[in-house]
Amino acid sequence: TDFETILLEKRGRVGVITLNRPKALNALNSQVLQELVVALDDLETDDGIGAILITGSERAFAAGADIKEMQPKSYMDMFMADFFAGWDRLASARKPTIAAVSGFALGGGCELAMLCDILLASDTAKFGQPEIKLGVIPGIGGSQRLTRAVGKAKAMDLVLTGRNMDAEEAERAGLVARVIPADELLDEALKTAETIASMSLPVAMVAKEAVNRSFETTLSEGVRFERRVFHSLFATEDQKEGMAAFVEKRAPEFKNR
Ligand code: HXC
Repeated sequence: TDFETILLEKRGRVGVITLNRPKALNALNSQVLQELVVALDDLETDDGIGAILITGSERAFAAGADIKEMQPKSYMDMFMADFFAGWDRLASARKPTIAAVSGFALGGGCELAMLCDILLASDTAKFGQPEIKLGVIPGIGGSQRLTRAVGKAKAMDLVLTGRNMDAEEAERAGLVARVIPADELLDEALKTAETIASMSLPVAMVAKEAVNRSFETTLSEGVRFERRVFHSLFATEDQKEGMAAFVEKRAPEFKNR
């Protein structure tokens, strides 16, 4: 497929999507979303892919939704198009997703990173929800996912002032899993993705689903869900293989079934 605003690469079992609108600091317009969805559908249906990595450039992961695209729109335009609803596709991805963030991750860029399962940041990363400075608010889940990630105190601080936070602060706040020196970010993120992709894919998918369940339900229902899907894994060949390999002191060979 020919993409204009992203690059899609398959590196072994890892699918790498690179945002590629350098002149606009990877601002997220409708074309980016459309291409991202096509790329995601491709990676999700490819049995050879076990993890999906989304990254940008060194200067910008993404500096937000495309302000120039949004500027002329009316309420009716936004409402009838259900503008931004398409980004839900990323939230419903079943394979593990990793965001490798360097430079600006602002507005929709921060929201895109938060839509991924694991957020890895370079020491140059800057996160923020500056929409209020444009007379709007976060529109791709930021007010909800940022609050769940960092709590009310910092979410209110960021959303109401529009200030940025650096990678250190973002890690301390719990938004970021790990901070990595900028020149090692991509290698480290690829290594992480390869590690995940070396596990049993169906088991990784169930693990992700179980963690995500915690955001949608009560503790007791979440624990019940976990136990039921845990039981179900004993119907997989990979559970037999994983436990046999441990007992036989050898590396497991997962068959993704
Ligand atoms: C469209 C953008 C853009 C954006 C940058 N550019 N961000 N275009 N939408 N979100 C473009 C600039 O217009 C400029 O194009 C080029 O990228 C380089 O940006 P500069 O501003 O010249 O770079 P710099 O001075 O280094 O400043 C970087 C920056 C700044 C601090 C990241 O670009 C910035 O503040 N961007 C907007 C950040 C933002 O508000 N994001 C939230 C968007 S709203 P030209 O053609 O002039 O060279 C959003 C909301 C989602 O995401 C939901 C609710 C609406």
